[in-house]
Amino acid sequence: MEGPLQDALRPAGIQAEHIGSLWNFTLGLCALVFLLVVAACVTALWIAPRADAGTAPDLGSLARPERRVWRIIGWATAASALGLVALLVADAWTSRALARLPLADAVNIELTGHQWWWEARYLDADPARAFTTANELHIPVGRPVLVTLRADDVIHTLWIPNLQGKKDMIPGRTATLSLRADRPGTYRGQCAEFCGVQHALMALLVEAEPNADYEAWAAAQRSAAPAPVDALALRGREVFLNGNCASCHTVAGTAARGSRGPDLSHLASRRTIGAGMFPNNRGHLGGWIADPQALKPGVYMPPNSLPPADLQALLAYLETLK
Ligand code: CUA
Repeated sequence: MEGPLQDALRPAGIQAEHIGSLWNFTLGLCALVFLLVVAACVTALWIAPRADAGTAPDLGSLARPERRVWRIIGWATAASALGLVALLVADAWTSRALARLPLADAVNIELTGHQWWWEARYLDADPARAFTTANELHIPVGRPVLVTLRADDVIHTLWIPNLQGKKDMIPGRTATLSLRADRPGTYRGQCAEFCGVQHALMALLVEAEPNADYEAWAAAQRSAAPAPVDALALRGREVFLNGNCASCHTVAGTAARGSRGPDLSHLASRRTIGAGMFPNNRGHLGGWIADPQALKPGVYMPPNSLPPADLQALLAYLETLK
């Protein structure tokens, strides 16, 4: 299976394409400058002295080299200035193009950076239709997405290279970033501002899918997961609600209303845990609950020394949160 893409040179959206074009233009221009400099060096070191060899010194031409030097300096300065102006114009044009995305019918997401995970609130004109998830965005292909950026603790930066450029998330401030995926796929976003020991492992999966699939996913996220039916999962729910879990995590439809950690209402529908670190399966989830520090040192979740039977029940419950 191909993993999620994290590659600015394989654009999957209109804005990443603009950024990719700017990159290609810059690379092309710099390559041209490099070749011209190499050609000038070869001429100066190899060809010119050979052409001069054997000719008798002409005393009348002693003033000429100086004129030639000034001419070369003039041309080089003009060419450099022209190159810089071309880069400036391309950059300004790209910046304008990035800001021009029409936002009619946009999906509105409020994304908050935490040490070291992402909280995503899907907003709606009708507040009852808003919902919260974590570390995994679903977006419809071809529809604009307006992301409002916030930070809870320190500065983070949202960067989903296949879709858009970077934007800072600064505590106490609000910024917005618009994007549009034009090709379905799974794209990996990454925090791009050093934000503490687990900065490198603060990933965000973006699932770009056809609009109907997105709407089905959003509808499932809006309603609470059905209450468990089997005895083990029911016991697991008691462990969840009466133990430490509920003081930091929310599960819609239950008394768990904690907001310190990720919303777990539909945990079982996510592909990864730990902000993109591990596949979401029973083994990793059990290890994570028992000793998060061993898997992601510095993470704010405390260890849980649950009796094995309680841990198994808790896992059975979490797996019902589809
Ligand atoms: Cu968050 Cu780096």
